[in-house]
Amino acid sequence: MNDTIVFTRGVPPPEAFPVAQLAECVAAAIQSDPAVVLQYGQQQGYAPLRALLAAEYGVPENEVMVANGSLQLQDLLAAHLVRPGMTVLTEQPGYDRAIMTFRRRGARVVGVPLEADGVDVARLEAEVRRQTPAFLYLVPDFQNPAGVTTSAEKRRAILALAERYGFWVVEDIPYRRLRYRGEPVPMLREINPQRVVTMTSFSKLLSPGMRVGYMVAPAQLVAAITKEGEHTYLSPVLPTQAAVAEFIRRGWLQPNIERLKQLYRPRWDAMLGAVRRHLEGVTASEPDGGFFVSVTLPAEANTRGLVERAKAIGLVLTEGQAFFADPDEGPPPDGERFVRLPFCAVTPQQIDEGVRRLASLL
Ligand SMILES: Cc1ncc(COP(=O)(O)O)c(C=O)c1O
Repeated sequence: MNDTIVFTRGVPPPEAFPVAQLAECVAAAIQSDPAVVLQYGQQQGYAPLRALLAAEYGVPENEVMVANGSLQLQDLLAAHLVRPGMTVLTEQPGYDRAIMTFRRRGARVVGVPLEADGVDVARLEAEVRRQTPAFLYLVPDFQNPAGVTTSAEKRRAILALAERYGFWVVEDIPYRRLRYRGEPVPMLREINPQRVVTMTSFSKLLSPGMRVGYMVAPAQLVAAITKEGEHTYLSPVLPTQAAVAEFIRRGWLQPNIERLKQLYRPRWDAMLGAVRRHLEGVTASEPDGGFFVSVTLPAEANTRGLVERAKAIGLVLTEGQAFFADPDEGPPPDGERFVRLPFCAVTPQQIDEGVRRLASLL
């Protein structure tokens, strides 16, 4: 079908890329510092970029590591922290690639049910009492896949548990700066930096193809992950890191984020409106930013073979089950009822038509 509507990928559309500015910055970065940028080295990331990020977060430079995208940092972190038999906890539903990455490193990945304001803290406590996890992985701002933001109260409660039971909390925040309404909730690291690994990237603010992501964490952990990185890829990709540093130095990042928000806000608005209009009675998230709205279809809805049936009418959906880790002690999740609706790479017209098609299948 040539008018197929794709609700699968949480990626920026081509019109989001600041092409000319990035081209200028890549050229300037290579020309101004070729001996470093074109060479092996800088295993912890390009030093001038680390310095800019350290200043932004108010931390020493040895607490910042820049690598080839944040997913690679998640992988290196799991390689370092997960030992056979250990669990990693995620939100349920959670980011599918993170679940896969942690499993590949040998973890049993257990999902803690996600509510409208973050994970169910009582269920989280029950789970950490059973077994101390290698870490808890959260996407606390405009979560992928559900769109949920963890409340300040829950952030404090989660960190109190981390302190009491002794585990790391990974906050993965690539969407945090794409807020379309309301005020930011404090980052977990603002509440307790000793227990928190902050990860984020420029994939959603500049371009995923640049592969520039970073982590802010206590220095010892950064040193250990730097070693993991060096043993994996020798050195990170430096020209794009240097280009990002140049982009920030020129003062172009915040205006670019404002431009993105202008591009995405009507799409976000269209998705919220379309869900309200076409999916009456369905539980939907109402995110204040990011890339995703999600819906949980009622038990009586016809979800059998939904992805296949959607494809037949020109609607591409991700299998809901992909976002579900192993269940905790509660009942097994019904992934078939969960539908993620990414809105940034589709136009308001496509959004309306796509949600209408979804409704026609239920
Ligand atoms: C929550 C989350 N973390 C990490 C990533 C991957 O980021 P990167 O491109 O920096 O590897 C994504 C990409 O969609 C994401 O949604």
